[in-house]
Amino acid sequence: MTTTNHRILIVDDTPLNLKMVSAALAPGGYQIETATSGQMALDRAVSFRPDLFILDVMMPDIDGYEVCRRLRRMSAFAQHPILMLTANDSLEERVRGLEAGADDYMSKPFQPIELQARVKALLRRMSVATAPPLALVRNETLAFFSLRGGVGISTLATNLAVGLAQIWGEPVALVDLAFISGQSALMLNLPLRTTWGDLATPPIYEIDYDLLQQVLMPHSSGVHVLASAARPEQSELITAEKVAHVLSILRQHYSYVVLDLPHDFSATTLTGLDSANTVLLVLAPEIASVRATACALDVFVKLDYAPDKLLLLLNTTVEQGGLVRKDIELALHHPIAQALPYAAEAYLSALNRGVPPVLDQPNKPLGAILERWAFHLSREAQRMQRPATPTPAWQRVAQSNYARKTR
Ligand SMILES: Nc1ncnc2c1ncn2[C@@H]1O[C@H](COP(=O)(O)OP(=O)(O)O)[C@@H](O)[C@H]1O
Ligand SMILES: [Mg+2]
Repeated sequence: MTTTNHRILIVDDTPLNLKMVSAALAPGGYQIETATSGQMALDRAVSFRPDLFILDVMMPDIDGYEVCRRLRRMSAFAQHPILMLTANDSLEERVRGLEAGADDYMSKPFQPIELQARVKALLRRMSVATAPPLALVRNETLAFFSLRGGVGISTLATNLAVGLAQIWGEPVALVDLAFISGQSALMLNLPLRTTWGDLATPPIYEIDYDLLQQVLMPHSSGVHVLASAARPEQSELITAEKVAHVLSILRQHYSYVVLDLPHDFSATTLTGLDSANTVLLVLAPEIASVRATACALDVFVKLDYAPDKLLLLLNTTVEQGGLVRKDIELALHHPIAQALPYAAEAYLSALNRGVPPVLDQPNKPLGAILERWAFHLSREAQRMQRPATPTPAWQRVAQSNYARKTR
């Protein structure tokens, strides 16, 4: 039996129906409560806070349509999935149900597996549905990923987030999804005051933008960090659904969300990869890293990711004797979008001081390269226009472009 923390409220005036629906959903491991009248359903909704409702239509006091309409008027449930279950399978009934605000419709008698499948699908869509249509969200989510550790994921994610915040003069969310010994906060010298650990206990429906504002730690650069917990076991309760929910809220409130992902294909990592517009697949110029990259590319093909969602990023982590860019591209059948230079000393001192090079050394070669790279990864619409009040970082990038073009 799988367990989930999703809550379902089943409403039906016939005890036998309640029993049958509950039994059909039992294998899902949901928390189930029942109500035997429309009024009881509305009361239970407030106290039990379900993630999904299953409503019978014909009930003596308030019928299912009216319960549905009233739930839709309550802001807490305006977007929650509602499945109508009715004995009358006419087209007219279906239309009435949908007009009342139901998301799905099933007639009795039902097949348990169909009910299970529909409930699963509705719950899966829930966190997506609460977000505005993607076209309206002006967000770029950039995920840094590698199956091999030590290639610079955390280093580059941090520098990119800081670079974007400095260039555009607005907050950028940096989310550490490396739950075991994540490093985003460390790289910015932030104490682990609030972390993902603080999101472990609250159920999904209690996590909103206000709560996230208390948990994300602001850094002087304008980056807001959602750090991985100090102790890994604090993150054990963070489900993929919770990650999807948190990311969908952040996408609505930040123009840029940067993800520091661990070196695995766990459910939470996959959620991060799915929610990204751009996956920066980072590799080092050595054979093990190229192998790991080939493997990751293979998985991305199987996941049906659009080819333009992936950018290969070569991070030169070795001073000498590394593989040549052309050879790596040939081996991977994939172009390298960008190569970043070797800079062990600058990164080491940055790490020890907790100040990324893009922030305190934008005029030195490494800082300048990282700053221009952050500009390059910005949203096209934003890149094409001069900001109303350009930041110093924007002006530096603009000048360097100008200098390059006129040379
Ligand atoms: N271009 C580079 N040149 C030299 N050292 C680098 C470079 N990029 C990263 N490093 C170093 O490599 C180490 C691993 O980086 P990190 O970002 O923690 O990797 P990951 O998150 O992929 O495990 C760090 O000590 C970092 O300073
Ligand atoms: Mg890391």
